[in-house]
Amino acid sequence: MELTPELPGEPIKYIDLGSGRGQASRHVVSSNKSVTCTCLNLNRNENREARERCEMQGLEKKIDVVDGTYDRLPDKFTWQFNGCLSQDALVHAYSKSQALKEALRVTKGGGFMVVSDLFRGDGPFVSADELKAFASAYMVNDWQTPQQSVESAKEAGWANVEYTDFTDEIRLSFQKLLKKVTALVQSGKYSGQNYDQLLSYRNNLSRRVFQVDEGVFKWGAITARKPYEVMFIREPPFEPLARDHIKFPPAPLPPVQSGHVSSIPPY
Ligand SMILES: C[S@@+](CC[C@H](N)C(=O)[O-])C[C@H]1O[C@@H](n2cnc3c(N)ncnc32)[C@H](O)[C@@H]1O
Repeated sequence: MELTPELPGEPIKYIDLGSGRGQASRHVVSSNKSVTCTCLNLNRNENREARERCEMQGLEKKIDVVDGTYDRLPDKFTWQFNGCLSQDALVHAYSKSQALKEALRVTKGGGFMVVSDLFRGDGPFVSADELKAFASAYMVNDWQTPQQSVESAKEAGWANVEYTDFTDEIRLSFQKLLKKVTALVQSGKYSGQNYDQLLSYRNNLSRRVFQVDEGVFKWGAITARKPYEVMFIREPPFEPLARDHIKFPPAPLPPVQSGHVSSIPPY
């Protein structure tokens, strides 16, 4: 994935919500010169490993690894980031709406959000028990369908909210892994505990493929932008066009003093 600044060379500072061991951010930051990142993650052991790996790759000045929860981000983060990314992590939020509101708070006006995640499926033959078992195995409290997540993001205040479905890609990825693991099981090279682990991994993978086909879950990305709030200090010479991510004040505008127009974003 590549992050492109709106103006060439402009720095991009983003936050990775639920960054794990930081693989995704190390990839993004090392391939984009003007990008820096704050990796925020709950698990301190993973964070320790993330810091060590950043140092090994010489990225410690570009990636700051912070212990914390995306359910309640530090106050000092308000309006600090050009955007936020989250990969396979917001699905564990205690409240998805709350996490999406926090993500909005720390993002500057016009900033981006990209959340790739597992979502609740809506297959016609999927039972409530099956959904419940999946959610509890994956430690999911507030499991939403893609459409419910789109609505939660809009209610949190995000604009231009869209869902792009990548479920076919996760099926393919599971199928490829299953093929590799099956070959290892059949190779005759493994025995004892290792063999048992491989068998259990293979069974889980084939169950996942079945669940994708059944419609137990979906995998995809929610993308959105934080709206700008534009305040005119003089009446503009023409009526501003309505745009999804640009909000104009509802109140009557002050009288014209000159033909000049200015806009001040609130940060
Ligand atoms: C499946 S891992 C994904 C990690 C990483 N984003 C990646 O793609 O490799 C889920 C991560 O979410 C983190 N996590 C879960 N709940 C969290 C919370 N409330 N706040 C911050 N991180 C959380 C866990 O620590 C875990 O590392």
